[in-house]
Amino acid sequence: MNGNRIAPSPGVRAARHGVDGRRAQAFLVRERQAYIARNPRSAQCADAAGRHLLFGVPLHWMCDWGTPFALHVESARGARVTTVDGQELVDFCLGDTGAMFGHSPAPVVAALQRQAERGLTTMLATADAAEVGRLLAERFGLPCWQFALSATDANRYVVRWIRAATGRKKLLVFNGCYHGTIDDVFVDLVDGHPVQRPSLLGQVHDLTAHTVVVEFNDLPALEAALASGEVACVLAEPVMTNIGMVQPAPGYWEAARALIRHHGSLLVMDETHCISAGPGGYARAHGIETDAIVLGKPVGGGLPCAVYGMSAELAERAVAAKRAAPPGHSGIGTTLTGNMLATAAMRAALSEVMTPAAYAHMFALADELASGIRALIGRHRLPWSVTQVGARVEFQFTPQVPRNGSEAGRALDSDLEHLIHLGLLNRGVMITPFHNMMLVCPQTTPDDVGRLLAALDEVLGQIVPA
Ligand SMILES: Cc1ncc(COP(=O)(O)O)c(C=O)c1O
Repeated sequence: MNGNRIAPSPGVRAARHGVDGRRAQAFLVRERQAYIARNPRSAQCADAAGRHLLFGVPLHWMCDWGTPFALHVESARGARVTTVDGQELVDFCLGDTGAMFGHSPAPVVAALQRQAERGLTTMLATADAAEVGRLLAERFGLPCWQFALSATDANRYVVRWIRAATGRKKLLVFNGCYHGTIDDVFVDLVDGHPVQRPSLLGQVHDLTAHTVVVEFNDLPALEAALASGEVACVLAEPVMTNIGMVQPAPGYWEAARALIRHHGSLLVMDETHCISAGPGGYARAHGIETDAIVLGKPVGGGLPCAVYGMSAELAERAVAAKRAAPPGHSGIGTTLTGNMLATAAMRAALSEVMTPAAYAHMFALADELASGIRALIGRHRLPWSVTQVGARVEFQFTPQVPRNGSEAGRALDSDLEHLIHLGLLNRGVMITPFHNMMLVCPQTTPDDVGRLLAALDEVLGQIVPA
């Protein structure tokens, strides 16, 4: 097999988004050479992995970094990742939110060590489970919770419960959304029509039959879609984060919430990324009343686990649906869901890691990062903008912040993103491989932020018109 090399990005050959194509291309060539010279051990690991791993990586997305070959990690701690070549990187990717509270937070490590000696999985609850439920109810304001192994699973299960509870079949999502690999959401709005996302592999069902898609921030479209009375629930991120960030317009959620309720539908907030907005997520911080909440990624400090919560009314209807169904497989759950190790990790993360003090530190530094990037954009005269949701900051290749998924999608430019990310990596700073998203964690320091800003300044100086 020869899957060990990542297909090289074509680069940025023509002027775009305020960048000089010739300078950018020359920069990319230099940065690729620098990366190859700096990471010989990663190259060896990539070669070895290419023999038996499809695409030379455990998950094909790990090829999406835009590096000449996959970077391999020796260790990760706090806000730092050390590569197998001994380079220490300041990490603003943080496992794309899985490590949003720092790599290996001490209370989670201690809980895992304690639990690992006492069993990993039994298909039975430990005493930690009730405490996790209590902590979640207190934090998010919803009374009833279930566990899952990933945010994808949590979304899949909550949609299933809601379809069963309401007897309605349709799901409404926003154009450009991502909620994990729950298939139902992969429907795009193309020229006003729903179209199954062409990148989706191996899906044989027509997803447009039961998924309705509208633009974010478009209340008339939402109302028209809900009017059929067939929509079981709206599944949404309170701020879209996966096609570049899109903030709700002032008053949007208040009005959307009223429409959803008026048409007998339910609102599920996927807070997996927007937990960056505060300890209770974006919805709690902004007073948006939800029927269900999903949270994955950092809820176990980086261990695979997730949760979903329901209002008392929805929980009652879900229980009634289960009781009314014949015995047998519900289609909800997996063997290791709620395992003892993950439950111990969640208890530690919720009670000792995702604290108001941690958020206060993260917010202050994220503010600094956002204003620093705005200043760089101004200095380099780039037609770009910056969006921030608490500890999450992103720059986008558009002068006006996008109002919906279509506008945000038009501002994406993976070749330019990869070039910038590679330049930053070579300067000891790592950001998320998808668009230009950065997270600040409790261990991030003001110096780290300064380092990212200095590296970005240097990269921009080499790709903007001379
Ligand atoms: C908002 C949102 N929900 C769900 C998921 C899925 O998370 P996981 O891949 O851990 O299942 C993601 C992943 O990026 C996400 O951004």
